[in-house]
Amino acid sequence: MAAFLGIDIGTSGTKTLAMDEEGTILASAMETYPCYVPKPLWSEQDPDDWWQATILSIRAVMAKAKLKPAEVRSIGLSGQMHGSVFLDRNDRVIRRAILWNDQRTSAECAEMEDRVGGRANLIKLVANPALTGFTAPKILWLRNHEPRNFEKTRKVLLPKDEIRRRLTGEYATEVSDASGMLLLDVAQRVWSRKLLSALELDVDLLGKCYESDEATGRLTATAAKQLGLTPECLVVGGAGDCAAGAVGNGIVTRGVLSTSIGTSGVMFVHCDDVAIDPLGRVHTFCHAVHGKWHMMGVNLSAGGSLQWFCNELCQADKAIAKKAKTDVYDQLTQEAQDVPPGSKGLFFLPYLSGERTPHADPDARGCFVGLTLAHTRAHLVRSIMEGVTYSMCDSLEIFDKLGVPIRQIRASGGGSRSPLWRQIQADMFGRRVVTINSEEGPAYGVALLAAVGAGAFKNIEEACGATIRVVQETPPNRAAKTYYQRAFPVYQQLYRSLKDDFKRIAALEG
Ligand code: XUL
Repeated sequence: MAAFLGIDIGTSGTKTLAMDEEGTILASAMETYPCYVPKPLWSEQDPDDWWQATILSIRAVMAKAKLKPAEVRSIGLSGQMHGSVFLDRNDRVIRRAILWNDQRTSAECAEMEDRVGGRANLIKLVANPALTGFTAPKILWLRNHEPRNFEKTRKVLLPKDEIRRRLTGEYATEVSDASGMLLLDVAQRVWSRKLLSALELDVDLLGKCYESDEATGRLTATAAKQLGLTPECLVVGGAGDCAAGAVGNGIVTRGVLSTSIGTSGVMFVHCDDVAIDPLGRVHTFCHAVHGKWHMMGVNLSAGGSLQWFCNELCQADKAIAKKAKTDVYDQLTQEAQDVPPGSKGLFFLPYLSGERTPHADPDARGCFVGLTLAHTRAHLVRSIMEGVTYSMCDSLEIFDKLGVPIRQIRASGGGSRSPLWRQIQADMFGRRVVTINSEEGPAYGVALLAAVGAGAFKNIEEACGATIRVVQETPPNRAAKTYYQRAFPVYQQLYRSLKDDFKRIAALEG
């Protein structure tokens, strides 16, 4: 048998799965690690934790699926995007990696725009404006705030690409994740020499950039031994977790959009050509499909908002659920099921980590607006689910205004496992939402890319066609849809009303 591994270096943990040639999942395993918040709105992780989790999860999958080392033909890597791993000349990690949801780089975003003569010019060079979570501003931050660390830096790699280096010894990336570094000429799919020169950064800081299904190397003898695999095993480019998740959802043709509710929330739509939002509200990145692109809107605290609520305010329920081996989120969403659409006038703004789409505002803050004595915990939970979905509607509205064709919406990610959250999506989008036969997301997407790279399928479109199908549909409820059409402008106005106050609050906290 031939098997393929998909590995996703996520924010809460690393997930590895093994898949056979038919796309059947043989086993999967997850290993978690901490996220460090040394200051409010900073977010860091230790690449050694990712590596240990990779080793443990590969070994667990090999044992569960009873795979022989030589059966694993190739590996696909996915991971949280935009994170920066700074390496010295001996490939030692210089400091903890700064993650996608870290908001420390506002000044460096302004510096980037200044250096190229404004935001519009930056969008021309790399298809996107400077956003605090992206990689390039983090490199400038290191130069501005930790010059000694910057002096030592010889390579800057994305999270999954640091794992690739430890697997293969190669410094490499691929176009989808590279797009989120804000150093790639997205239209041409090559590093932007013009931008690098304007930023006074050397192209040698970056790895070689491949297409997502191309082989980037084979396992080193040491890594093969450590993982119980063989040095013949290929490692293909893979994809950033958004593009990988989209491939795992079969979003490889025009007109299909996926919604994903993980820690972050992502609205992802395939595009045959490069289409750019001139206002820079949604991102344009290279897709993991050869020669194709995608647009996406990202909100930084989607499932993360509910996770925060559960961790901070439902500790007793969590303990009980753990003992009873049930899922505390099932219980919370069950309670919210009985609350009517609109949560009795309660709105939640999901800006717990600032916000990206559509506001690009690191100072935005989370809030409940409209609380009364009539509200219970169930209302709070439902309003969180609604607030996150409203923020996804913001992206949908932008895609519609830009004329991006959308003929099907596929819901995915942990949050979409909840029938209530799928219904809220269908009601707010005012469109049918479908789910597919696989819930594995990014790890499955890159296992498919690994299979393509090893020759098991002609291309990723063929791989998705052979393995992915729609299994369930959630139509919108007419009354709820009408309610949300009235409520959405209220939600949108709340940010505009509070924007200046958010700035004042941020200034207070220094
Ligand atoms: C995408 C983004 C997040 C991370 C989280 O632009 O920042 O979705 O990739 O995993």
